[in-house]
Amino acid sequence: MINVSVVGAGQTKFGRHPEYDLRELFSFAAVEAIEEAGISPTDVEAAFIGNLSADRFNNQCHIAPMMVDFAGMKGIPATKCEAACASSATALRAAILAIESGIHDVVIAAGVEKMSDQPTPSVIETLAMAADQTFEAGPGITFPGIFAVLAVAHMHKYGTTREQFASVAVKNHANAVHNPLAQYQKEITMEKALSSRMVAWPLGLFDCSPISDGAAAVVLVRTKEARKYTDAPVKIIASTQASDTMNLCDRDDLSTLGAARRASHKAYKQAKLEPQDIDFAEVHDCFTIAEIIATEDLGFFKPGQGGPAVEQGLTRIGAEKPINTSGGLKAKGHPVGATGVSQLRELYLQLRNEAGKRQVPNADVGLTHNVGGTGASCAIHIASRW
Ligand SMILES: CC(C)(COP(=O)(O)OP(=O)(O)OC[C@H]1O[C@@H](n2cnc3c(N)ncnc32)[C@H](O)[C@@H]1OP(=O)(O)O)[C@@H](O)C(=O)NCCC(=O)NCCS
Repeated sequence: MINVSVVGAGQTKFGRHPEYDLRELFSFAAVEAIEEAGISPTDVEAAFIGNLSADRFNNQCHIAPMMVDFAGMKGIPATKCEAACASSATALRAAILAIESGIHDVVIAAGVEKMSDQPTPSVIETLAMAADQTFEAGPGITFPGIFAVLAVAHMHKYGTTREQFASVAVKNHANAVHNPLAQYQKEITMEKALSSRMVAWPLGLFDCSPISDGAAAVVLVRTKEARKYTDAPVKIIASTQASDTMNLCDRDDLSTLGAARRASHKAYKQAKLEPQDIDFAEVHDCFTIAEIIATEDLGFFKPGQGGPAVEQGLTRIGAEKPINTSGGLKAKGHPVGATGVSQLRELYLQLRNEAGKRQVPNADVGLTHNVGGTGASCAIHIASRW
């Protein structure tokens, strides 16, 4: 059983931020989380910061000390964690383990990414470095193409349709309308989603997460101490991670992600829960097909039923299994290194009844699912109301 709780959370608005640099984005999120925890930056003992590629996006390596120094935490151990788009979920796990080990009492887990400094082709080339260079990125495939391959495999095996992909986008854009920090706070129609320009068949523009800047942070403490910081801490009751082959051609089945199945199986065991006990989830919808696969891999719906479920509205707020109440990567935005911690921030808000118009009624237990690369990494966290 995990004995770590969240006592403060912060996030910048996701989107394009030419006016701020990486350290400013980190600082906005970190200081918000620290203030919410009712502590000062000098009370934080260690920081773990997710980031995919500040070296390529912003010409800056070795970012962790720079981030903590700027945010008033000078001198503490500061470590960058990288697992592609799952970078900040692995930072979160490292922070949890640092507390569980007994070495630290107050730790910040965060993520930051500033992608929009580069033009789109260069961003896409950098993201492709998270796929296998020899078998995938080198020969020329990039992420929209890779997820298009998974989409075709799912369509072929289960009859999943482009309308079902579009249902994910329509739902997530509708949720993001109520998230003031989302990149796209605008609804879209099925017609608009289906008629958007093709990126990599069968995935069009509205099947893709956007290019984003942003940061997210949480303050973690030992659960038995958590009430000293806030009346409504959020308990982390599972933290797991699994891996898979880097290249798709070594996998038996492209309609599922093995790392997500393995990590979620372990997470349910750790939390002593079953998929039906999860009230809502933030899942890694980097492309709409990824949300459908996630809801199957997490055991919310049987294999092949994720598409019909979203089409029938079962994953809307107020329905059986609300998914991506924040707007998800699709509409909230996907500053890749910040996404995992941002997902936990949504759980923190929901479990404290602070999610406003996107609040899930009776939300007691939530789950985050953060995928790195083509699914070679996956980290799962489960959190519950105090
Ligand atoms: C799909 C993609 C190629 C579009 O990039 P682009 O062609 O440079 O698009 P632009 O930035 O020129 O934007 C053109 C318009 O589309 C909108 N737009 C861009 N991406 C969008 C998206 N994913 N969803 C909705 N709208 C989007 C922009 O807001 C802009 O609208 P406007 O004209 O009203 O201002 C890019 O968003 C992308 O690569 N996404 C995937 C990112 C990724 O792979 N992440 C990692 C996943 S593992």
